[in-house]
Amino acid sequence: PVQHTDDGVPLLHAVPDDVQADRERFYQAGPLTRVELPGGVRAWATTHHEVSRATLNDPRFVKSVDHWDDYQSGRVPEGWPLMGTIPTDDSNMLALDGAAHRRMRRLIASPFSARRVERLSPRIEEITARALDALEPRSGQTLDLKSEFTFRVPMGVIGELYGVAESEYAQLGEMYAKLFSGTTEEGEHLEIYGALFRFFSEMVARKRASVDEHDDFTTDLLRAGEDGDALSDAEITITLLTVVAAGHETTVNLLNNVVRALLAHPDQLAMLRRGEVTWEAVIEETLRYDPPNNVMMFRFATEDVEIGGETIRKGEALMTHYGAATRDREEFGEDPHPAVFDPTRTRGRHISFGYGPHICPGAPLSRLEARIILPMLFERFPDLRLAVPDEELQIQAALSVTSLKEFPVVLRP
Ligand code: HEM
Repeated sequence: PVQHTDDGVPLLHAVPDDVQADRERFYQAGPLTRVELPGGVRAWATTHHEVSRATLNDPRFVKSVDHWDDYQSGRVPEGWPLMGTIPTDDSNMLALDGAAHRRMRRLIASPFSARRVERLSPRIEEITARALDALEPRSGQTLDLKSEFTFRVPMGVIGELYGVAESEYAQLGEMYAKLFSGTTEEGEHLEIYGALFRFFSEMVARKRASVDEHDDFTTDLLRAGEDGDALSDAEITITLLTVVAAGHETTVNLLNNVVRALLAHPDQLAMLRRGEVTWEAVIEETLRYDPPNNVMMFRFATEDVEIGGETIRKGEALMTHYGAATRDREEFGEDPHPAVFDPTRTRGRHISFGYGPHICPGAPLSRLEARIILPMLFERFPDLRLAVPDEELQIQAALSVTSLKEFPVVLRP
């Protein structure tokens, strides 16, 4: 059932009862609908494909909270938990607009490029093989694939990417686990951010003093820049933090979502094994069918904008409902229906990595990780099974990302 406020605005829940049904219901409410978020905060959500693309690429919608009326006039409750998902510091590319944002994207383009991240392939294979070896002794028991594998491997990859010393992995891992636990209190969250900030800024300072001795993403960022323009140490530190925040949980979700979709669709898994569909197709279809970011944070209208049959007023907030937009019949057709997981579908292009100036710079890395890690998992444990029925898997409370709380499996039933 669709839940509404007294004046008829659909409620956007942090944990919908049924994520897939919720996506369909928001698609039906589209192309653009008012929503009320937990805490009584209101916004617009784009729920169809084309209007999502158009608004993501429209300079009249900006990231700066200076343009959000409800926030500026104190109508957003004190300590509103979702505020943590809206970046406000001005070295974070997620929060920047216009020329300042373009400058940042220009400076980070080469370090993030497919060519640069491709170099990590052998290390990703090693990290994955080691993580798989560690699972062997308990392969006959129920274990949590998320905490033991799909969380751990991308964390190792980010450590490798950054050039973190292996002796520091444990410390970093502890901070990550707290950051993404979903149960961490707001105050503690800030503390962990502070600790991560110190960790990375010390690392940046160390590498700055010995740039020529390293060859990693952090050093790439230190070297980035043309025409005398370069990133400051503070900007690099914030970028490293942003990558952890924007790139870790999303990649974990992609890995989990692919495994989950394949286990729930044995026919598709069999086709994959027979080579009738590729891993690439399975990964792209999972990004569409079950996008790691279900609803993406805000943009704010700098002027009245008429779109999708509605008028978004200057100062109002707008979010992208990726989960709903991936159900769009006009983009993806009716056959197969967009609610169906079908890696052989040929119509439509998902925008699960975003669109326009903020499009995800980490897409090449997360695709590379998925392409290496997932085949290795299924080759090592071909009889991998869920340890509970799929319907019993639980989602962690968070509005923007739909992460599994736990992913209980048996690797060798
Ligand atoms: C931005 C999705 C992995 C780094 C974004 C955006 C989306 C997204 C939708 C756009 C945000 C917006 O429009 O406001 C994903 C998904 C991922 C993933 C689905 C995995 C499957 C990664 C990885 C990294 C990364 C691995 C880093 C290595 C970033 C950064 C931004 C971003 C830095 C901000 C870009 C900007 O504001 O200009 N991501 N991401 N992401 N992503 Fe990703």
